[in-house]
Amino acid sequence: MSIRYNAENGVISLETRGTLYQMQADDYGMLLHIYYGRKLAGEDAVRLLRYTDRGFSGNPYTRTNGRGYSADTLPQEYGGCNTGDYRVSAVSLVLADGSRGAELLFEDYEILEGKYTIPGMPYVRAGASRPQTLRVRLRDRVSGLAADLYYGVFEEEDVITRTVCLINEGTEPITLEKAASMSIDFPFAPEGGFEVMHFHGRHCMERIPERLPLGRGVVSFGSMRGMSSHHNNPFAILCAPVTTEDAGECYGFMLAYSGNHKEEFEVDQAGSTRVTAGIAQENFSWRLAPGECFFAPEAILSFSAEGFNGLSHCFHRILRRNVIPERFAGLKRPVLVNSWEAMYMDFNADKLLKLAADAKALDMDMLVLDDGWFGKRDRDDSGLGDWYVNEKKLGCTMKQLAEKVNALGMKFGLWVEPEMISEDSDLYRAHPDWAVCDPGRKPVLSRNQLVLDMSREDVQEYLFEALGRILRDAPISYLKWDFNRAVANVYSNALPKDRQGEFSHRFVLGTYALLERLAESFPEVMIEGCAGGGGRFDAGMLYYCPQIWCSDDTDPVERLEIQRGTSYGYPACSMGAHVSASPNHQTGRQTPFGLRGMTAMAGTFGYELDPGKLSDAEKEQVREQIADFRRYDRLLREGRYYRLGNHPELSDHQAWMVAAEDGSEALLTAVITHVRANGPFIRICLKGLDASAVYRVAAYRISGVTFEKTAVGETYGGAALMYAGISLPLLYGDYPSVQIYFKKER
Ligand code: DGJ
Repeated sequence: MSIRYNAENGVISLETRGTLYQMQADDYGMLLHIYYGRKLAGEDAVRLLRYTDRGFSGNPYTRTNGRGYSADTLPQEYGGCNTGDYRVSAVSLVLADGSRGAELLFEDYEILEGKYTIPGMPYVRAGASRPQTLRVRLRDRVSGLAADLYYGVFEEEDVITRTVCLINEGTEPITLEKAASMSIDFPFAPEGGFEVMHFHGRHCMERIPERLPLGRGVVSFGSMRGMSSHHNNPFAILCAPVTTEDAGECYGFMLAYSGNHKEEFEVDQAGSTRVTAGIAQENFSWRLAPGECFFAPEAILSFSAEGFNGLSHCFHRILRRNVIPERFAGLKRPVLVNSWEAMYMDFNADKLLKLAADAKALDMDMLVLDDGWFGKRDRDDSGLGDWYVNEKKLGCTMKQLAEKVNALGMKFGLWVEPEMISEDSDLYRAHPDWAVCDPGRKPVLSRNQLVLDMSREDVQEYLFEALGRILRDAPISYLKWDFNRAVANVYSNALPKDRQGEFSHRFVLGTYALLERLAESFPEVMIEGCAGGGGRFDAGMLYYCPQIWCSDDTDPVERLEIQRGTSYGYPACSMGAHVSASPNHQTGRQTPFGLRGMTAMAGTFGYELDPGKLSDAEKEQVREQIADFRRYDRLLREGRYYRLGNHPELSDHQAWMVAAEDGSEALLTAVITHVRANGPFIRICLKGLDASAVYRVAAYRISGVTFEKTAVGETYGGAALMYAGISLPLLYGDYPSVQIYFKKER
């Protein structure tokens, strides 16, 4: 049983393989957060609760529990608002009489087998796991607002999911102004105080970890861009100052949501830390008529006592097995060639077929036709919304093109950007009111385009029909679903004026509804998410799209940072990564072909260049890379990914590895980011191997120059590889790299 209720003291315990999460419904009805961390051998942690009279922290009116009893000082599981807890609240609302209070007190609970679901939104699926669900009902007795707190307990996976359903069981409407997905209080901090790691960035440099000590007050991260954003990913880690990649305690909080979000970290007067995450409060309101309910997006929580790598493994595993659509979870991903950096919008069917034939000759699996094939679209200032094929430009129909690509033995994929509209488009001329813009203003332009109002059902219907027509008409195996600007001027012509605060969330729900319908109608089509690179790289999109284009920056040296940052929360098999041309189109940097291949293999692997322009030697490398990728495919998709060594800013190299869960094989990659004359030797300690086994070096690739012999066939003990490590050969040239494949021999 992973969920237990202790009738004697009201403690509810959620247990996973390595963690315990406890709350207590006390006599007054407060639902107190007791503990989250390592298991306690069957005990509870209620004795940690302390009561004291802190001045200016008031008490519930009945005062039955004395002056030491205060919503402001006790650790809350999901506190109310305007009822004496002055910390960051989980909810905020306005009642029909204008008052703004809710005291959410325990009413009942139930334990259910299986996993709850969330209507219209992504969630961690039960899949092949055996989760249990806890539902705790809190209620504000004055307004009749009920809050059903849901917890999904994934025992084997060491994951707890949370969501909240707010239900108006009163007789008057209630306007929600905040409805967090989760809130949790940690009354005690580790020695030195908590630190938070968040993942910030910008276009072409997403998910860069930044680790900050938490001082008194509130620190928050989030996005108001109508998308989870390049700028702040909806994932954060709370840890101790001593936590490293491989040791120490840390908590991860991830939202399965793709819109505006906020993660708040507050250290209060007594040093207690509150973490709250959910839809951003700014510009949000939601009107709940009597009988209506509102579900917050799901939050995914995990705890590791084995450092950040341990935490990453929990998130990787749950995303791979329980979030990504089941039909793609165990599927080999196609090695694709994408037309974007190969020819941008300058193509026709002949050029594309040549690209496909050249790619096929090098053993690639799929051609993806990127932006520029529809409406009037030779530049980025027109055509979006006109999802009909520009046969004049192509020189044939899409069906003909796709069939010819198929005849070459290649699959065919297509780029779309459904949620956008160009002013210069037939769609805009017919439906200017479908573009997002608030009345009387000129809209903010970004990449010369406007945003379609996805909150409208007629817009969703139009897109479903338009995309369905294309998918039915031609043999298309894959869609790249792009989103190339942030939302501004939020307003919907289809919503009444007192419901405009619902727009941003309804927009996201509209996108999810469209993705869901397409998945139902075209289950075999794989959708790769994209938002100007990785601007919507989140568990919400992964629920529909098994992989997401990680960044528009395809420079392998930059990618080292981007992919490393992304790996804290997200598995390698979700990161779209391609070998691109050198000099790189974003940075102008020249890099070796080998490095580009090894870096792309830390993701889904593909090519973003014209293979016809490669030299014979490079073509040979492509063949080798693809053969390597196919050989390692399963290991890369299902193995445990480890970040090795120092944070890249502190060292001249970067290394990572993937080890099979059973320790039977492992692939190590190391890149020298700064070659130094007469530099120090580099030693790398491997992880995740079987200490008592013997491993053979089954493949050893070097990109760069070395005067040493590579060591294929050498054997090492697992313990020696992990504790003594291996020392890399001295490497010269620009960004040399090595990839070593170990196979367990006995
Ligand atoms: C942004 C994407 O990230 C690129 O890969 C490419 O598809 C362009 N959009 C096309 O407009």
